[in-house]
Amino acid sequence: MCGIVGVLGNHEVAPILVEALKRLEYRGYDSAGIATVNGGVLDRRRAVGKLANLSDKLVHQPLAGKAGIGHTRWATHGAPTEGNAHPHKAGRVAVVHNGIIENFRELRAELAEAGINFQTETDTETVALLTEHHMAQGMDAAQAAFQTLDRLQGAFALAFLFDGQDDLIVAARKGSPLAIGHGDGEMFVGSDAIALAPLTDRITYLEEGDRAVVTRDGVEIRDAHGTLANRQVRQIQIDAARVDKAGHKHFMAKEIAEQPTVLSNTLANYLGTDGQISLPDPGIDFTKIDRLTMVACGTAYYACLTAKYWFEQIARLPVEVDVASEFRYREPPVPARTLALFVSQSGETADTLAALRYCEGKADKIVSIINVPESSIARESNLALPIHAGVEVGVASTKAFTCQLTVLLMLVLKAAQERGTLSDADLADHISALRGIPALINLGLEQSDAMKTTARKLAEARDILFLGRGIMYPLAHEGALKLKEISYIHAEAYASGELKHGPIALIDKNVPVVVMAPRDPLFDKTVSNMQEVMARKGKVVLVSNAAGIAEAGEGVWSKIAMPDCPDIVAPILYAVPAQLLAYHTAVAKGTDVDQPRNLAKSVTVE
Ligand code: G6P
Repeated sequence: MCGIVGVLGNHEVAPILVEALKRLEYRGYDSAGIATVNGGVLDRRRAVGKLANLSDKLVHQPLAGKAGIGHTRWATHGAPTEGNAHPHKAGRVAVVHNGIIENFRELRAELAEAGINFQTETDTETVALLTEHHMAQGMDAAQAAFQTLDRLQGAFALAFLFDGQDDLIVAARKGSPLAIGHGDGEMFVGSDAIALAPLTDRITYLEEGDRAVVTRDGVEIRDAHGTLANRQVRQIQIDAARVDKAGHKHFMAKEIAEQPTVLSNTLANYLGTDGQISLPDPGIDFTKIDRLTMVACGTAYYACLTAKYWFEQIARLPVEVDVASEFRYREPPVPARTLALFVSQSGETADTLAALRYCEGKADKIVSIINVPESSIARESNLALPIHAGVEVGVASTKAFTCQLTVLLMLVLKAAQERGTLSDADLADHISALRGIPALINLGLEQSDAMKTTARKLAEARDILFLGRGIMYPLAHEGALKLKEISYIHAEAYASGELKHGPIALIDKNVPVVVMAPRDPLFDKTVSNMQEVMARKGKVVLVSNAAGIAEAGEGVWSKIAMPDCPDIVAPILYAVPAQLLAYHTAVAKGTDVDQPRNLAKSVTVE
């Protein structure tokens, strides 16, 4: 889940590579590095930690050259040290890699047998060494790289740069995405089109198994069988401007705050003035669907879990939800008349993409809900539904979650309408509830200070439980996930009704319990569970509306009042306290909110 970039330019490439890597830092920030060819000489600079460290190093130790490759790393094999940082170099070859070379031990053993020494603990170094080994046997650079590629198992996007060759990058894709950018007398390679956005809007996406020989004049692509392949050049539309924090302390704060605006945008893209929900072509015929299989990871998975409640209750469609890493290897049957639905902010999550591919040819239709329309998941779906959240930079997903929920709810209403499970009056009520979401979120955001006060107390806890019942149960999970991601406090979510089946044993005066419970038909049951917690000295943080807070009675440690809202949109509104409690807790603890340790925004390896 690293980011890679390559440039054959007409100007000094070091600053161009660094700028492109900034756009890829969401893929990892354990280390960064670049290599260039200058006057025929291959050289590199690498630095541990965030890209800023590499930029600092380049000030003191500049790297000249008009041809180069770069990398931002999320460590898989080998600790995040400078030695293990990419580009990896062996003799005349430098390589940057996103993915995992699964047979690297076997290849290492072969190379060791040939008397070749290793400098790093990485799988990627094997690729550079093997290519250099092939060159030493007399192959030219491209031949040597191709010969190496034939030996590799696993998932990879790779870019090779060679000493003595300032007009050549060899690139390859298997499992991990890779884009080739076309300029005027310049050519580019990048993990995604966003990285290349300021450089070009003309992009060719490599397909599985493709290998590309890139020079300033253009690109020659061969497929996995070595046959010349004609891949389309697409004109893409990506805003080249890098997003800023717009006066907020963190991207996460900005992204939480802009939810009313982006949600209005999401709604406007799907909801006509006539009150009809419309989907882009080719649409979905829900009368031909008997069941749904929903697959995702992380926050997107909790959006799917929430939507299961809606789809089942409102559209009477049975739904199976699974995390992609389990689904892809479970070999689940996918019966006829199944709609397979994949939710992913980035559209590049490796497990979700693999799960989608598993469903190809099995499910009646493959639909994705994505934030990046040019992503691999979007491109491989029969229908891709963009959430229109705008670029999300904070590693912890916030606005993408509420936009995913909103698109999912519109899909549910569309399904219910087509399947005749909802009266016209109820449909109109639900659509009016949807239209009210941005205003509700605005009201929810006004409670930020109350949440900050509670968060200061939460910051002292070692363990925190989140409880929810019914449709608030997935949200309890999302609240716990947000909190552990950015504040590093251990947090677990349970269905309120499960409390007595184990987790209640954890309750004592040191364990805050966050209860997500609007005053809905299940509220009384949740209040009983809350009483059970308080009877054991647990500290309850109740997130509810005024009626719920009034009914909860005495003994609640902290109360967060949300505005009244129609039950159907409660999970979208209550996402705000889930996000803000985590955010303020992390700020109180002084953690790196936007780039928390060990995480990456887009997980492009298994
Ligand atoms: C990572 C991110 C999460 C995200 C998950 C799925 O774990 O840190 O915020 O929810 O990946 O990513 P996707 O891009 O598929 O939604």
